[in-house]
Amino acid sequence: MDTIDQTAMKQGEAEKDGSAPVVAVVDLHKSFGSQNVLNGISLAVGRGETLAVLGRSGTGKSVLLRLIIGLEKPDSGSVRIHGQDIADLALDQMGEIRKKMGFLFQHAALYDSLTVEQNVAFPLLHHKKEMSKSERGDRVEELLAEVGMESALAKMPSDISGGMQKRVGLARALALEPDILLLDEPTAGLDPISSGEIDDLILKLQQEHHTASIVVTHDLHSAKTVADRLALLNEGDIVIQGTFEELQESDIEFVREFLKHS
Ligand SMILES: Nc1ncnc2c1ncn2[C@@H]1O[C@H](COP(=O)(O)OP(=O)(O)O)[C@@H](O)[C@H]1O
Ligand SMILES: [Mg+2]
Repeated sequence: MDTIDQTAMKQGEAEKDGSAPVVAVVDLHKSFGSQNVLNGISLAVGRGETLAVLGRSGTGKSVLLRLIIGLEKPDSGSVRIHGQDIADLALDQMGEIRKKMGFLFQHAALYDSLTVEQNVAFPLLHHKKEMSKSERGDRVEELLAEVGMESALAKMPSDISGGMQKRVGLARALALEPDILLLDEPTAGLDPISSGEIDDLILKLQQEHHTASIVVTHDLHSAKTVADRLALLNEGDIVIQGTFEELQESDIEFVREFLKHS
């Protein structure tokens, strides 16, 4: 393990009760054919903590999230959720773990053919079968109120703005009370005002729910707003990991360039 790995693990171990970090990624490698995408990534996120993963397009940020969700398998290295390597889990155990993960994908934040209400109800319908229809209705309203979208219940995704779609996507991600929140470019494609509103909402949700969150973004301003720590990805490696201030103080040429042009 190199120094960055050790630092990442130490940060992950900084859980107050001494338990394993909620999410830990250890020396993760992933290639597609001859293309090395991730060359040994290590990071850890504790309860109530938000890590922003920054980097240019095509640096493997979405791949990293798919590895954490278990939608892709690493070539080597591991993804540990509450200390447990997900590679060791049976399908049904992984299903249970995934229920505790809320995610917002980069594209297709919502199901186009379902109303806003049906979108948010979807995880409840599939994973909370014991819920009555009226309980589910109440829960959907509560979730939509949390993101300020209760008036859009009957609308189709195509009838609301991109920012509103992301809000509804966040409500759906929270439906099963996750302890891990994975957000892939939650502000991409939004105008600056809507982006700022989504950042504020992510911060508010984070303060209320204390999830361990990983927010992937190429937007430094957004990362600075929502995250406790930032990890900068380039060519398959984490170039630096730390607070925004620590990034600002860095002498690493790539970090300085990234900050200058963001
Ligand atoms: N399933 C796949 N098969 C082949 N190549 C892939 C696959 N998924 C991602 N890649 C490649 O991996 C690289 C990183 O992709 P991605 O994680 O989506 O980047 P980003 O940082 O923009 O989210 C890209 O070059 C992409 O083309
Ligand atoms: Mg991506």
